[in-house]
Amino acid sequence: MKLTLNNKTPHAVESACIVVGVFEDEPLTGAAADLDKASSGAISAMIESGDIDAFRGRTTLLHGLPGVKADRILVTGLGEADRFDRVRFDMACMSAGAFLREHSVTEAHICLHEAECEDLDLAWRLRHAGIAFDRANYVYTTTKPRKDDSPHPLKSVSFQGDADLEDAIRQAEAIAAGYRRARELGNLPPNICNPAYLAQQAKSIAEAHERVDVDILKKKDMAALGMDALLAVGQGSENGPRLIVLKYNGAGDEEQPVALVGKGITFDSGGISLKPGANMDQMKFDMCGAATVLGAFEACVLLNLPINLITIVAAAENMPDGRAYRPGDVLTSMSGKTIEILNTDAEGRLVLCDALTYCERFNPRATIDVATLTGACVVALGHHASGLMSPHDDLAEELIGAGRVSVDRAWRLPVWEDYQQQLKTPFADMKNVGGMPAGAITAGCFLSRFAKKQRWAHIDIAGSAWKWGEAEGATGRPVGLLTQYLINQS
Ligand code: BES
Ligand code: MN
Ligand code: ZN
Repeated sequence: MKLTLNNKTPHAVESACIVVGVFEDEPLTGAAADLDKASSGAISAMIESGDIDAFRGRTTLLHGLPGVKADRILVTGLGEADRFDRVRFDMACMSAGAFLREHSVTEAHICLHEAECEDLDLAWRLRHAGIAFDRANYVYTTTKPRKDDSPHPLKSVSFQGDADLEDAIRQAEAIAAGYRRARELGNLPPNICNPAYLAQQAKSIAEAHERVDVDILKKKDMAALGMDALLAVGQGSENGPRLIVLKYNGAGDEEQPVALVGKGITFDSGGISLKPGANMDQMKFDMCGAATVLGAFEACVLLNLPINLITIVAAAENMPDGRAYRPGDVLTSMSGKTIEILNTDAEGRLVLCDALTYCERFNPRATIDVATLTGACVVALGHHASGLMSPHDDLAEELIGAGRVSVDRAWRLPVWEDYQQQLKTPFADMKNVGGMPAGAITAGCFLSRFAKKQRWAHIDIAGSAWKWGEAEGATGRPVGLLTQYLINQS
């Protein structure tokens, strides 16, 4: 989708559809007021008669208004003016975007970012609207192509505004591309998107950009490094594991990098501790941590951020097989710490622990891992917030702040020492499950043992990474949070 700027008076803009916002019980402002005046009060008359509903997220399509050049106007409800915040702003953009997608509007002119919102400046509102419209316009088509009679996607949108907003537009395009990459990878079926496929994707990102290098470690390389935890998870599958390392040099060789580490289980059957059959297909999304760190990496490169960034993906398929690892096994991780396996379905922490140890060599100034790690996180926070864990208050606050700004929110859970005892076992340095209480936290505690030498945070996206049901699929979260964090670091 192409994003441009247009600063003509709204009623003079030639477009298939102008998108404007209206508040409940407030006089019309901005583009809505301009179109209303040009059409001799047509919009206010329809609000008066109840034909336009300004309730937040409601959309009403108007055709052929006199005095207005555009063919249609999409009036989007913004709700009560005094309760309008970034979350409602995001929601208004998304529902207007969904309307356009469903109604085959292929070209539109957007004015929603005019609406003042908290203390957010025009550039933020424009950038956020650009990302939201692109996200709302995404439909997965790779293994189900659009039919002739299916709705046509938006091809281009212009935003009301002057040329000085060009930077915000370019940022929106970069971040939207990161979201798209993440969603597409998340949605692909596990017979296509396996560890080798993820490695191939990383290679193609590296080939497309000058300042990007890639390393792919295969079984032998990992064995030489002693990554027995990661290898164990992958050993029950025909699709061998990969450790994927992308490096972006945007700040010269002296600067410490930021590191992102993603869980890339391309299918999680549970292994010998086999999952129940119902909804097992959803475990194709168990590589969304990997997908989103790749998406954030790509956005960072497209934004040309003056930072160094390392992105590590621990990719494996967790399958039951004659060679699979089993409950009772004791593994020696790359760090030298031993792990007793009590459940082969707690595999994410095993691939991540070796990736975190490997990450030490880059001496990052911050290391953030992203993973669909625990069902317990979904129980704790549902689908709205990602779970954030870190022993470092400043890093936790930076990440939560980035989530607030990007409307891709995370909520902190404690990783106090008190929880560590749940990982005790007589047979190894730790076991890989901590029992029923605080399952998301004990998973975070497990990871913390491998990140002691780093300024580290963990984001559990088990609830936020995808939406159940037909149309939705992967959300691309937390690409927004991560890119905002990287922007703030630069
Ligand atoms: N990938 C799952 C976590 C998951 C489950 C994410 C459902 C989203 C929805 C992870 O590998 C897993 O199976 N975790 C187990 C851990 C348990 C065995 C300690 C879980 O959450 O049940
Ligand atoms: Mn699992
Ligand atoms: Zn998993």
